[in-house]
Amino acid sequence: MRTDTGQVFRLEDYRPSDYRITHTDLLFRLDPHATLVTAKLTVERRDGVAANAPLVLDGDGLVLESLGLNGAPLAGEGYTATPDRLEIRAVPAEKFFELEIVTKVSPVTNKALMGLYQSKGNYCTQCEAEGFRRITYYLDRPDNLSTFQVRIEARKAEAPVLLSNGNPVEHGDLADGWHYAVWHDPFPKPSYLFALVGGDLGSIHDTFTTASGRKVALGIYVEHGKEPLATYAMDALKRSMRWDEERFSREYDLDVFNIVAVSDFNMGAMENKGLNIFNDKYVLADPETATDVDYAGIEAVIAHEYFHNWTGNRITCRDWFQLCLKEGLTVYRDHEFSADQRSRPVKRIAEVRNLRSLQFPEDQGPLAHPVRPRRYKEINNFYTSTVYEKGSEVVRMIHTILGPEKFRAGMDLYFERHDGQAVTIEDFLACFAEVSGRDLTQFALWYHQAGTPRVTVTTSHDPATGDFEVNISQTVPPTPSEAVKKPMHIPLAFGLLGPNGDEMEMGSVEGAEVNDGVIHLTAASQTIRFRGVGSRPVLSLNRGFSAPIVLNQDLTKEDRLFLARHDSDLFNRWEALNSLFVEALIAAAAREKEGKPHDFDAALVEAAIEIAGNDGLEPAYRALALSLPSEADVAREIGNDVDPDAVRAARDALRREIGGKGRDAFRRIYDQHADSGPFSPDAASAGKRSLRNVLLDYLAAAEAAPELAALQFETANNMTDRAAALTVLAHQFPEHEATRKALAAFDARYRDNGLVMDKWFVVQATIPGAATLERVKSLTAHPAFSLMNPNRVRSLVGAFSSGNQTGFHRADGAGYQFLADIILSLDRHNPQVAARLATAFRSWRSMEEVRQLEARKALERINAEASLSRDVKDIVERTLA
Ligand code: ARG
Ligand code: ZN
Repeated sequence: MRTDTGQVFRLEDYRPSDYRITHTDLLFRLDPHATLVTAKLTVERRDGVAANAPLVLDGDGLVLESLGLNGAPLAGEGYTATPDRLEIRAVPAEKFFELEIVTKVSPVTNKALMGLYQSKGNYCTQCEAEGFRRITYYLDRPDNLSTFQVRIEARKAEAPVLLSNGNPVEHGDLADGWHYAVWHDPFPKPSYLFALVGGDLGSIHDTFTTASGRKVALGIYVEHGKEPLATYAMDALKRSMRWDEERFSREYDLDVFNIVAVSDFNMGAMENKGLNIFNDKYVLADPETATDVDYAGIEAVIAHEYFHNWTGNRITCRDWFQLCLKEGLTVYRDHEFSADQRSRPVKRIAEVRNLRSLQFPEDQGPLAHPVRPRRYKEINNFYTSTVYEKGSEVVRMIHTILGPEKFRAGMDLYFERHDGQAVTIEDFLACFAEVSGRDLTQFALWYHQAGTPRVTVTTSHDPATGDFEVNISQTVPPTPSEAVKKPMHIPLAFGLLGPNGDEMEMGSVEGAEVNDGVIHLTAASQTIRFRGVGSRPVLSLNRGFSAPIVLNQDLTKEDRLFLARHDSDLFNRWEALNSLFVEALIAAAAREKEGKPHDFDAALVEAAIEIAGNDGLEPAYRALALSLPSEADVAREIGNDVDPDAVRAARDALRREIGGKGRDAFRRIYDQHADSGPFSPDAASAGKRSLRNVLLDYLAAAEAAPELAALQFETANNMTDRAAALTVLAHQFPEHEATRKALAAFDARYRDNGLVMDKWFVVQATIPGAATLERVKSLTAHPAFSLMNPNRVRSLVGAFSSGNQTGFHRADGAGYQFLADIILSLDRHNPQVAARLATAFRSWRSMEEVRQLEARKALERINAEASLSRDVKDIVERTLA
C-alpha cells in the first residue's frame, strides 16, 4: 500500500519524459499466486536528451525477477530496483533499445483491486489511473503512447477465455493443459488503457456494422448462467455506437469490441481500448432483479465507456491534471445520448438534482477543487463529481455559448487535429475559439476556479417607458487555497413571460451581450435594460440550467407559482416548484426547532396536487415535480448550524400535508397507472412506475398505514415496484410487522444475489432516525455483506454515511465513530474505496456545534493512524484543514 510521503504533484511541474516506450510486448503466465509478467519494451530516447540520462520507470509494490537489455542480462551495477521504482543507468548509446523486465505478481491477494487481481476466480485488471505500475515497471503516465502486443498463457480449465486490447491474432493449446491467446492493439495508447481478462465466463455475441461498412464483433462476458441478463447492455451498446456516428461522426475502429462484467470493481466501469471492464452492476439486468434506475444506469455507463473510445482513447490526456478533458466531455456525451434516448427535460432535471446533491456540496466544502486541479497528492481522489459532472456542465456551456453548429465544428476540429495525441484543456478550448472566433479566455475560468458561483438578480419594470431592468451580480465564494476569484463568463438562457403566460416579444436590449435567448454575464455586476416591454414580465432565468450556479432571484411566491404553471421551459417549471418546496422546508425546519406548528402554504400544496393530475405532462416529469427535496438538499440550502432532526420532521410534515390533501386524487392516479401487460424498461413505462411510486409514498404518509405498500410489495411483477414498496415500508414504518415480513421475504428470496441485496442494504441503511446505526452495524455481519466487495460496502456503509442525515449525523457522534472504524479497517486492503467513504465527512462544518465536535473527534482519530494510505490521508487532511 502506498502510504503518505507528503509528496504533492503540481501541474506546473509537467515535463515530457526523457524516454518514450513506443512498443510494448507483454507475456503473462497466469497463476493466482505467482503470475509471471515478461515485458519487452521498445524504448526511444527523445531528441536532445543526453545519452547517459538514466531511464526511470514507475513501479508499485513490484517483485523483480530479472532484467535484460538488448537481449543480454543486465548487471546489478547498471540499475537500481525498489518495489516502487526502477532506474536504469546503463542505458545504451543508440536512440532505440529494448528492455526486458520480468516481474511476479499475486492476483489472488490483490484486494486493492488495482493492477492484476481476481474477482470470483477470474483474472482481470484495472489500470487507471496508476495501476499498470502494479503489473510491471513502466512509464506509467498518460502521455506515453505505445502499441501493445499481449500473449496470455493460462491453464485451460481455469481460464478458457483469454482477452486483451485490440484485435485477436492467434490462440492455441500448450503442454500440460495450458493454452494461450495473442492480442494486438495497433492504436498507440497509454498504459492506463491496458486490460487483460482470463476466466471461465459465459458470453453473448452480436455484430455491428459501422457507417463505412466495417463489421465489428461484439461480445459481453459474464458469469456462467447470467448471459440473458446482458441483453439490455448489448442493445445499449449498439445504440451508443450508432448514436456516436450520427451525432459526432465517430466510428468504431477495431474488429472486436468486448465488455466483461466483474463483481469486484472499485468504480463504475473502465474504457480500456476494445476491452471495457465493468462493475457487473452496470451490465446485468432483468425485470426481476433490476429497477428502472438500474436500466438507465446501464444505458448511460455502457454509452459513457464506449464514447471514451474517441474522447479518452484516440485522444487522451497529457497528464492527470487534464482528467476532465476526457471525463467531463464524455459525461456530456453520455448525457446527450440519454436525453436523446429518453425524455430530454426529465433527463436534465435528474442531472441537476444529481449535480446539486453531489457536486455542489463538494464545491462548497473543504474538498473543493477546480474542474482542472493544479495539484494533487493522490490522483484517485480526483475522480470526483467536480471533474465529471461539473466538467460536463462546462462543455454544455460551450455548446450554449457557441450554438449547435459552431459547437459541432469545434468538436470536429478537435478530433481531426488531435487524433493520436495526449493533449490539454487549452488544446480543447483552442478548437472552439478557432471555429467561433470567440475569445474563451474568461470562459476558461470555469476550468481553473473552484466554487459554485452565486448569482443575484433583481428586476424592475416601468410601465410608463416600457423598460424592464435586470440587475445581475455574481460572486464566486472562496475555496481552499483560492481566496480571491475573478468574475466568470456565465451564460444564462432566459425568457420573459407575459401576464397570460406566453413568451413576450422584446425590443432592443442593452447592458450585456444578449443573443439567441442567452444573456452573457461577464462582469461582477451588470444592468440589462429591455426596451418595449409593455407589462411587467416574469423573468425565467437560467433555463435548462444553462449554468451550474446558485441563483438568487427576487421572485415572489406568486411569480414562482406562475412559472411552475406556465413556463415553456420544462426545467424551469420544475425548478420553480422545487424552490418553493425548499423554502417551505427551511421555514418549517426553523419552526420545528422553535416548537411551533407547521403552516404550509395552501397554494403550494394545491400546485403539487394539480401537477400530479396534469395529463399534459409526462408521468416521469410529474414524478420528479412531486419528489420533495431530500433532507440533504434542505440541509445544504440552510448551509450552517443544521439540525438534521428538524429537517426530517419538516419534510415528513410536508409529505403528510400534500398526501392528506391530495389523497383521493393520488389514489385515482395510482390506480390508473397500474402496469398492464409484460414489463418493459422503456422510458415511458418507467415514467409511469415512477409516478405511481412517488404517489405511493404520499398515500402511505396520508394514511399512516402500510397496507397499500405491503400489497404492492407482494404483488409487484418487477423490481422497480417491489423495491419502491419496500422503501416506503422501511422508511415510514420501520418497526411495523409488515416491514419486518417484507424485509425477511426479500432476504430469503435474493440472499445469494449480491447486486439485489445491495438494494436491501440501501433501503435499511437509509431508514431515517438514530436507531438505524444499530441496524447497520448488525447488517455488517449478514452473510451477503463483505468488506472485500466495493458494491456491498457502498450499499451499506456508503448509503448510510452519505444518504442518511439523521442516522449518520447522530448527535452523540456514534455514526461518525462507526464510519471511522470502517474506514480504518477497509484502508488496510482497499484505500481507494476507504478514501471515497471518508468524503462523507465533507459537510461536517455546516452541522450544529455538538455534531461538529463529534465529527472532528472521528476525523482526528483516523488521521492519527500511523500507517494510513495516502488516499485516506489526503482526504482526511483536507477535510480537517
Ligand atoms: N475512466 C473510468 C470512467 O470514468 C473511471 C476509472 C477510474 N478508476 C480509478 N481507479 N480511479 O469511466
Ligand atoms: Zn469516464
